[in-house]
Amino acid sequence: MAKFWCSLCMITIFQLSQLAISGREQVPTPPLPVLPLPTFSQLKWQQREIIMFLHFGVNTFTDSEWGTGKENPSIFKPVGLNANQWVAAAAEAGISLMILTAKHHDGFCLWPSKYTDHSVISSPWKNGRGDVVQEFVGAIKAHGGIDAGLYLSPWDLHDRRYGHDLQYNEFYLAQLQELLNKYGSVKEIWFDGAKGKNAKNMSYYFTDWFAMVRELQSSINIFSDAGPDVRWVGNEQGFAGNTSWSTINSTLLSIGNASIIDYLNTGDPKGTNWLPAECDVSIRKGWFWHKSESPKKLSELLEIYYNSVGRNCVMLLNVPPNSTGLISETDAHRLKEFGSAIDTIFSNNLAENCFIEASSQRGGKDGGFGPENVLDSDHLWTYWTPRDDGDRKEHWIEIRVPNGGLKFNVVRIQEAIGLGQRIVSHEIHVDGKKLVEGTTVGYKRLHRLEQVHGQVVRIIIKESKGQPLISSIGLHSDPYWNPNGQLVF
Ligand SMILES: *[C@@H]1O[C@H](CO)[C@@H](O)[C@H](O)[C@H]1NC(C)=O
Ligand SMILES: *[C@@H]1O[C@H](CO)[C@@H](O)[C@H](O)[C@H]1NC(C)=O
Ligand SMILES: *[C@@H]1O[C@H](CO)[C@@H](O)[C@H](O)[C@H]1NC(C)=O
Ligand SMILES: *[C@@H]1O[C@H](CO)[C@@H](O)[C@H](O)[C@H]1NC(C)=O
Ligand SMILES: *[C@@H]1O[C@H](CO)[C@@H](O)[C@H](O)[C@H]1NC(C)=O
Repeated sequence: MAKFWCSLCMITIFQLSQLAISGREQVPTPPLPVLPLPTFSQLKWQQREIIMFLHFGVNTFTDSEWGTGKENPSIFKPVGLNANQWVAAAAEAGISLMILTAKHHDGFCLWPSKYTDHSVISSPWKNGRGDVVQEFVGAIKAHGGIDAGLYLSPWDLHDRRYGHDLQYNEFYLAQLQELLNKYGSVKEIWFDGAKGKNAKNMSYYFTDWFAMVRELQSSINIFSDAGPDVRWVGNEQGFAGNTSWSTINSTLLSIGNASIIDYLNTGDPKGTNWLPAECDVSIRKGWFWHKSESPKKLSELLEIYYNSVGRNCVMLLNVPPNSTGLISETDAHRLKEFGSAIDTIFSNNLAENCFIEASSQRGGKDGGFGPENVLDSDHLWTYWTPRDDGDRKEHWIEIRVPNGGLKFNVVRIQEAIGLGQRIVSHEIHVDGKKLVEGTTVGYKRLHRLEQVHGQVVRIIIKESKGQPLISSIGLHSDPYWNPNGQLVF
């Protein structure tokens, strides 16, 4: 009897709660995602936009790009090394992740590894008691707001175990454990597939290495030609493809394989893995500091920015410390100029006080997915999306200037990639005239145009995987961009 009463009571509560739900107006829900999706860490990485590489080691003292492995550690004497200065230079440019070459191909270790004496231990710097990796992570931690990343070259020209698969892979893993265990949180680790000509049969046990990385660092992104978290863009000029998908098929990728370079550059609209591209480039010609070189012009850095960050990628800018152990004043200055130029261009969105309208919107008026969302400060989770009307392929969103016209030369479009990268092709029309025919958008797409003076800017989504979700749109004025004249900056 008690049992019967009890289940009767449960039924009643259940029915009452159903009534409560149906009595309330239903809030329109977000659409289903289009797979694959980024992980939490990949999404954080993407939002960094510009990150920094620091190539530093014995090459800094020998004026070379690739060492030999025969360098005498006594040459490593960065008498004025101050990692706080590196971090300050990065912070001035708004950079939030710095990646240091803990070991380059020459095998010299910037930290006192237990497994070799070819390191700071054998150098005169701080009488062999120094640790550059420690100074680097210490400065980052002291500053706050910036994260650390590391590069440990698989190729090692110094160590005699290199070329002997088992011994070398054990040695490499031992060093990886030192770096990922002792220096706190590491947000990105960089791998390449470079190998010595005399050791072509050397295998790198990437599967073991990556598993170990995952075990030791929970929120790290692993970079290599083939990911698994971040892929190489396929060149060292910092240029992503005009079409740039964060999706790709990892099964078609392998590390150090020249035949996949074009595929890496554009990604794959049908790709089943989320594996966005990182664009590595140096602020100077070389990766290591050379007295004879100077930093790129501001206009060149901006060109790279538009072609990397502006094409759905992250820009990894190398700024090499010099032989004193400091980032040269010229480079620090250029970096600061670069950061302020980006601020100048993008801090002001000329579309902000305009009318905005779209072909349709999910959930109707006040449904939460209206076009006004593209002008708020959230560039990820609030977005405009059209009504789900089945076969209809084309959608548009339009910005109308209240009175007079607007002068701009950059159009910024951002997709809500948290629910998948979707846009396959789009167009931009100003006052009825087509100015841009573009393909992918992704996290951020920047179109630089000749000066436009117009009143109605319409972005047309021609084709999309599922409904398009646009999280942000900007009309900007770039005073540094002069497509017809010489680049004066
Ligand atoms: C690589 O090849 C060389 C020369 O054929 C051989 O001596 C060496 O043992 C090989 N290494 C491995 C790890 O197989
Ligand atoms: C390089 O990539 C291509 C295309 O995926 C593949 O066919 C080839 O086997 C790869 N080569 C190596 C050495 O992995
Ligand atoms: C990637 O994988 C998908 C799903 O299997 C497939 O449809 C697509 O053709 C693949 N891409 C390439 C370039 O093979
Ligand atoms: C390294 O840069 C610092 C800061 O500009 C400068 O004081 C120092 O002289 C430079 N070292 C060399 C070797 O050029
Ligand atoms: C990128 O694509 C657009 C539209 O298809 C085209 O006008 C432009 O020339 C392309 N740029 C490059 C560098 O390929």
